[in-house]
Amino acid sequence: MPFSKNILCIGAGYVGGPTMAMIAHKCPHYKVTVVDINPKRIAEWNFDDLPIYEPGLDKIVTSTRGKNLFFSTEIERGIKEAEIIFVSVNTPVKTFGAGAGMAADLQYWEKTARQILKYSESSKIIVEKSTFPVRTAFAMERILSLTENDIHFDVLSNPEFLAEGTAIKDLEYPDRVLLGSRETPSGVKARDELVKIYASWVPKERIITSNIWSSELSKLVANAFLAQRISSINSFTALCEKTEADITEVARAIGMDSRLGNKFLNSSLGWGGSCFKKDILNLVYLCRNYGLSKEADYWEGVVRINEYQKERFVLNMVSAMFNTLVSKKICLFGFAFKANTSDTRESPAIFISKRLLDEKAELVITDPKALDNAMTDLDGIDGKISYIEDPYEASDGCDAIAVMTEWEIYKSLDFEKIYRSMVKPAFIFDGRNILDHKGLFDIGFNVFPIGKPVLTHF
Ligand SMILES: NC(=O)c1ccc[n+]([C@@H]2O[C@H](COP(=O)([O-])OP(=O)(O)OC[C@H]3O[C@@H](n4cnc5c(N)ncnc54)[C@H](O)[C@@H]3O)[C@@H](O)[C@H]2O)c1
Repeated sequence: MPFSKNILCIGAGYVGGPTMAMIAHKCPHYKVTVVDINPKRIAEWNFDDLPIYEPGLDKIVTSTRGKNLFFSTEIERGIKEAEIIFVSVNTPVKTFGAGAGMAADLQYWEKTARQILKYSESSKIIVEKSTFPVRTAFAMERILSLTENDIHFDVLSNPEFLAEGTAIKDLEYPDRVLLGSRETPSGVKARDELVKIYASWVPKERIITSNIWSSELSKLVANAFLAQRISSINSFTALCEKTEADITEVARAIGMDSRLGNKFLNSSLGWGGSCFKKDILNLVYLCRNYGLSKEADYWEGVVRINEYQKERFVLNMVSAMFNTLVSKKICLFGFAFKANTSDTRESPAIFISKRLLDEKAELVITDPKALDNAMTDLDGIDGKISYIEDPYEASDGCDAIAVMTEWEIYKSLDFEKIYRSMVKPAFIFDGRNILDHKGLFDIGFNVFPIGKPVLTHF
């Protein structure tokens, strides 16, 4: 049976791969091709060992790959054949020139737009899936309007709200799908095409439309609010530690207020991930560009509190362990920026590892899925680091354990066995507040949670 439409996604990353796999899975009549400039990544998508770990992803990829889902490096061919092109390339923070450290680096996006322009032989719908600064679609339209033949491009915004670790569930049962377009007849027609795709599995009332700028901005605002929520709860942890209040009890009390809700109130050593920091900094940069310095300062504070929280965690460790970490062996439980993902981008564990190495501690890093990425992140850093997947083996002979990632497996380890194998006094710094602190204290550990009274035997 011929396919009713050809969909292309440019960028086979954490967003492009899973989102296109879901579209292919739910819309067997569409041919979905995902292309990337990175041949290694494409090769991995074509093998059993996928380039990213997400619960449930392998199942939908293997059931669709080779049928209506294809991974390829043939970008030119992909563009020529597609009627709808999703752009899902990376938009990291700029590291050079104007706006360095704040603005989005749009080189990948612009190259993609120029490739689309160069290879297109027919009109197409172009969908911004990446997170872009508000009004990027305007620049995209300007580039695509340079066409010399009779081709027309409709540029739409369809930001992705999935969370890593729950990407497949989020894609299958999204809270909402947002589609932003121009209110022109052709913009509305293009939007209807996208609605048709999502309506294959998403209830109609969850597919919302808006003007294109609101759509672009909504993604930045959503990430700013989510990160702000964690920074807000984290901003009270130091006060709790000083006053014997317990942040978990405080979170429970405020979370029962229906105006606030109880989600995203877990305190921790700080948020990470590829998006929050870059998107907020980008928002800050945009505000400053528009002369809105008060708004910029306000949102920059969300990032500042997060940096402070990570540094505070390290300083607490140094102070608890008699003000020196020199030659002490510290086992990091987890390296991924959150549980159920192999992604380590902007993981607090990277900052903390570097700071502990500065203090001349030795590191043993354990993680069920992210050790390869951890090795890449810490490659070339001075200091002694080993990588061991088994947490028992990893913590053997260590002075301290520091929990970096809230992996479920860490909750049910045999901590009596671990305690016996560690140097005494043994310390646990629970950067995620996931362990049974009283139980660990009773075993003999000195326990340092976040935002709760410490439990020590001194
Ligand atoms: N990771 C997330 O959880 C998440 C969630 C929502 C939105 N986003 C946004 O989605 C976008 C992509 O994020 P990601 O995490 O998938 O990034 P990623 O780095 O995992 O993937 C991007 C891919 O694009 C490829 N690429 C870059 N330029 C290209 C070009 N010219 N042609 C073909 N391929 C090209 C890269 O090789 C890379 O494989 C970003 O804007 C991000 O902010 C990410």
